[in-house]
Amino acid sequence: MPFVSEGIFLAQVSNANFLSLTKIALRMKHRPVEGFSKKSKQQKIDWLVNEYLGGDTAYTEILRQYWNDDAALQKLHDEFSENTLSNFYMPYGIAPNFLIDGELLALPMAVEESSVVAAASKAAKFWLDKGGFKTTVINERKLGHTHFIYKGEGIKLQAFFNHHLRDKLFEDTADITKNMRARGGGILDIKLVDKTADLEGYYQLKASFDTRDSMGANFINSCLEQFGRTLVNEVTGDASFTEDEKKSLQVVMNILSNYTPDCIVRAEVSCKVEDLKDDSGISPEEFANKFKQAVTIAEIEPYRATTHNKGIMNGVDAVVIATGNDFRAVEACAHTYASRSGSYSSLTHCAIEDGVFRFWLDLPVSVGVVGGLTALHPLVRFSLALLGKPSATKLMSILAVSGLAQNFAALRSLVTTGIQKGHMKMHLMNILNQLGATDDEKDYFVNYFKDKTVSHHEVIAEFNRLKKESI
Ligand code: MEV
Repeated sequence: MPFVSEGIFLAQVSNANFLSLTKIALRMKHRPVEGFSKKSKQQKIDWLVNEYLGGDTAYTEILRQYWNDDAALQKLHDEFSENTLSNFYMPYGIAPNFLIDGELLALPMAVEESSVVAAASKAAKFWLDKGGFKTTVINERKLGHTHFIYKGEGIKLQAFFNHHLRDKLFEDTADITKNMRARGGGILDIKLVDKTADLEGYYQLKASFDTRDSMGANFINSCLEQFGRTLVNEVTGDASFTEDEKKSLQVVMNILSNYTPDCIVRAEVSCKVEDLKDDSGISPEEFANKFKQAVTIAEIEPYRATTHNKGIMNGVDAVVIATGNDFRAVEACAHTYASRSGSYSSLTHCAIEDGVFRFWLDLPVSVGVVGGLTALHPLVRFSLALLGKPSATKLMSILAVSGLAQNFAALRSLVTTGIQKGHMKMHLMNILNQLGATDDEKDYFVNYFKDKTVSHHEVIAEFNRLKKESI
């Protein structure tokens, strides 16, 4: 085997390949590693610190200081993922006073952005004496597809599906769906979808599922993989298909869709316009009108809609993470839904009719309260207990409320004082921590900025002035 710079072994390669790999290896600052996942945690850290961090053991200490003293708890976290070296903390906070469908809840929120929890709490308090938040779960269907290619007669395939395959797909997944059916869920429907207008020979088996209180990813994917096998077995074993048709059949993949437009919840608030009193001095009528304009702008302008929806997801994701759900799936779904008209648009809407202000969010969201991290992660267990061990349906409602509240708080600030006033107040602690301020200095600054707008520049100037004074 040829040997190329500092310990890089190359497998047997042609001369031309060897030359180009040699060039790449010589340009690389760091060496590849073999069998990294098999090393112990300490070996991984040592390798990393030596290879990338100049052997500076201060970096080892950074990783170590986040290890948990409780070895069993640390092991639990290590095993959530691979190549775990340490724990990455995220603030875990509570936004109280959420009146949701008549029930008072404190929402658990895991989020690093200062002001998200404060904004949620403020919005919750605002709506507390106005009837709170109302929610409606519109549907709870989850979807998945077997994506396949078939270059034969489409009508024949459709007839085969209608008269035989559909039943066989249900029959062959009966073992997989048994427990879910016992819980009242299972496969709701299976359709054959002809996508050949978009891609030559492309068809789908499109199935909808009710996964009860679980997010259902494993259940759905297991059913779909069986669909793929059944499809191939049944078509290749049926005499009505020609040999060419059988040969053309190729299952490309079987996978759930994170786009669940039929797993959707609405959260809304409403009150008389005259009750929209805001302490910024703006009249309730002007507030309502400006607020509605802000929502309309997000409905028609994708640049604004992106930021507007990002603010909604500040609230949604924080609760999704605190309850051990998959925020990437929730994000992907929300943004696809926001683009369903062909143009990216707001997820919230607002109306003013007969002196009544209404504001609502339609959120497609698929989450679970059993399986996954829900029983394993102690803080997730805490969150779910705090929320009264909700069903997945109820968690959908809570998430939508969190998103709506966050959007209300952001728009309320944007159309009145602007967001920087509140945001910078919350950010003040981050700036002071960066400056290494003591607790007494922090108290001083909170007091100093009581009636002033916080700016990065002003904090640093005052901090330096204080330091000079104390010398
Ligand atoms: C910041 O994280 C979110 C906001 O920008 C949302 C918005 O503009 O609506 C405040």
